[in-house]
Amino acid sequence: MKHFLSINNIDSLAAWVDEARNLKVNPQADKQLGSNKTIGLLFFNNSLRTRLSTQKAAMNLGMEVMVMNFGNEGWALEYGDGTIMNEGTSEHIKEAAQVVSQYCDIIAIRAFASLNNKTQDEAEVVLENFAKYATVPIVNMESSTGHPLQAFTDAITLAEHHQKSRPKIVLSWAPHPKALPHAVANSFVQMMQHQEAEFIITHPEGYELNPEITKGVTIEYDQAKALKDADFVYVKNWSSYHSYGQVLHQNPKWTMTTEKLGAAKFMHCLPVRRNVVVADAVLDSSNSLVIEQANNRTYAAQLVLKKILEKAL
Ligand code: CP
Repeated sequence: MKHFLSINNIDSLAAWVDEARNLKVNPQADKQLGSNKTIGLLFFNNSLRTRLSTQKAAMNLGMEVMVMNFGNEGWALEYGDGTIMNEGTSEHIKEAAQVVSQYCDIIAIRAFASLNNKTQDEAEVVLENFAKYATVPIVNMESSTGHPLQAFTDAITLAEHHQKSRPKIVLSWAPHPKALPHAVANSFVQMMQHQEAEFIITHPEGYELNPEITKGVTIEYDQAKALKDADFVYVKNWSSYHSYGQVLHQNPKWTMTTEKLGAAKFMHCLPVRRNVVVADAVLDSSNSLVIEQANNRTYAAQLVLKKILEKAL
């Protein structure tokens, strides 16, 4: 049994991108593969795209789908070993993961970072404990530190649009009123390490990502310099990693505008706050790829599920 927990579970990104693009041409081709199989989608956090695209992907493969908003419908889970459970938690992950495994052939999980305990977040307590105690494959639908289905989607979208053998791709931080996790940015950076591209991350000082993830990547604090001659600009907010989970400032000078974007294609995972992260004029322009990205979520998820069902992951 293999899990899909990280973008690093993809053995050949280029090959997977090609396969996903083929699925997109005929999404119903493998309708028999998931017949009599069930996927359980467990959400500890909100979702629009991940929930519906993963459900659509499973349906394209002929699977039955069960969805549970675990965060407010399930029993509060305990993850500690040997805990005396006389406080807030009602059920231990050891039982919960084994029980759900009896109902499902694949379990997909969304469990965001708390952003108030770096050690616990980096331990991926929810995802890793499901992977440890479940008896079926686990799929990461965004965890504390990664969003591999989004990053794989982004690789598909880049492949569909890049016209140069070595495009310039910029990951640009943007302001946001709330503290957001690092998962999307982390997985995008990890995915970019498998791309033939000039890759630059730009953000204000203090918003450095985990240096273990960005090791070897060019970081440019001058956004204008970073954006010069870019082919693709991926915009994303994240909170501080060093001052863990803090919003240091919301400098509107970092909002993406048509002037800054120039001829580059605009990418964002969505949901996005208009006129805070990015100007209306960018999102409403033909340079925006965000709706195509959201569409590609289905084919990224479908390929991952297909490989698990074929035991090819
Ligand atoms: N991009 C993304 O994961 O969207 P949702 O949070 O709506 O699932």
